[in-house]
Amino acid sequence: MNIAPISDAGGAIVSGIDLRRDLAPQDATAIRNAFLEYGVVVIREQDLNTEDQIRFCNAMGGTATRGKPADQRADDADSAYDGAVHVVTNLTEDGKPLGSFGDGEVWFHHDGSFKEIPYAATVLYGMAVTSTGGETVFANMYMAYDRLSEVTKKRIDGLDGLNVYDYASTGRVDLEQDISNINHWVHPLVIRHPDTGRRALYVSPLITARIEGLSKTESDTLLEELFRYQEDDEIIFEHKWKAGDLVMMDNRSITHARRDFPAGEPRMLRRTMVEGVSIGP
Ligand SMILES: [Fe+2]
Repeated sequence: MNIAPISDAGGAIVSGIDLRRDLAPQDATAIRNAFLEYGVVVIREQDLNTEDQIRFCNAMGGTATRGKPADQRADDADSAYDGAVHVVTNLTEDGKPLGSFGDGEVWFHHDGSFKEIPYAATVLYGMAVTSTGGETVFANMYMAYDRLSEVTKKRIDGLDGLNVYDYASTGRVDLEQDISNINHWVHPLVIRHPDTGRRALYVSPLITARIEGLSKTESDTLLEELFRYQEDDEIIFEHKWKAGDLVMMDNRSITHARRDFPAGEPRMLRRTMVEGVSIGP
């Protein structure tokens, strides 16, 4: 097995491994260590069924399950897996979406930051990918934190953010509506990664709707400053998909976004998650 970094901002390619077979304990440890060090690991040229992908998540710390969002059709064919397997696709059947996220770009976010216990990792497997576009873009949130001014670091120390995920919205969440039935949770703006001990900025334009205890104007202004990480090329890297790619990202130290892609071309990724633990400042 070989591990090669992708960029100065993070990511590593792991090669020389076939995930159809059980991982040897030392290989599982090496992949997990690379995941923690680089934030994202990419394992190419795999031929994986759902069972293989779940086995991989189990080897990485345990497969997380998620109920189906009431207003979406997750992959019915995989309902046997109790909400552990979802399909990210633009494909439709009888005019209705078959999976989560349709066409177009998706803003930066951490998967599961609206939950009390966010997922440790998201694992995506490329089943059908577009000829161009649709890249997954990653931002290193340790670096995002490190690059804030000392004044801003002091200012956000001890502050919490309200993280809301509204499946019906593709932009900033509207807090004028009643959010009691929408997934949401309050987490610190800066977390200490439970495995590495490093501090990471924990906000995203898709999901962080408000900073608790500030006026709307103060909150919006400060969030706008914190969201600037998404334009900082030095902390951003990307993955250009090929079918057979398996990508695992750390949902504590990395935010991800999706670039636009040609409408009408089929795109399908199989998504599973690795269970997380509580996060705190
Ligand atoms: Fe995501």
